[in-house]
Amino acid sequence: MPGLTPVEQEVLVYSYFRDAELRGANLLVRLMRLVDDPESQVFLTQHLADETRHAWLWTQRIQELGAQPVLVDDGYQVRIGKLAGVPKTIVDIFALTVVVEQRALRRYQQHLRKPGVSDRTREVLEAVTKDEAWHIDWIRTKARELAEKAGDPEWVDRAIRKYRAIDEQVMAELDEKERGLGG
Ligand SMILES: [Fe+2]
Ligand SMILES: [Fe+2]
Repeated sequence: MPGLTPVEQEVLVYSYFRDAELRGANLLVRLMRLVDDPESQVFLTQHLADETRHAWLWTQRIQELGAQPVLVDDGYQVRIGKLAGVPKTIVDIFALTVVVEQRALRRYQQHLRKPGVSDRTREVLEAVTKDEAWHIDWIRTKARELAEKAGDPEWVDRAIRKYRAIDEQVMAELDEKERGLGG
């Protein structure tokens, strides 16, 4: 966005990260109401604790820059929601979560490779990245279990493919936007 200082650009990028974490947490809360087995409840609680902590780490990072989070209403998840609609089945929500988690991981890894990333930001990026592998793992495993129980083992992969196509479209839009920011 023309006219933003480098710090303002940084704050905006972290605000988008923060927003994606919070909306990811919201997806998990929805899952919690739909899934009734105790193992999933435990995983979901731990997972939710991670995502809200990630959102807090970004919030703190923004505050360290002497700023406050910018409210984001056109971020990754909102765009995904507009294109994908509300997922109606548990398997769809799980599949969407897998795609969203993989994207979060990739965005953080890409940001880590950018030139001029400060030590503190690197610290936050490394902290939030560390949890993503097990998030993706348990969600995918559980989704496959549910699909198999429903007699349609291909369901998860089908749903993941559907959401990945939407994710790629959204990322093309967001990359365009971030380039405009000089981020
Ligand atoms: Fe996260
Ligand atoms: Fe995650």
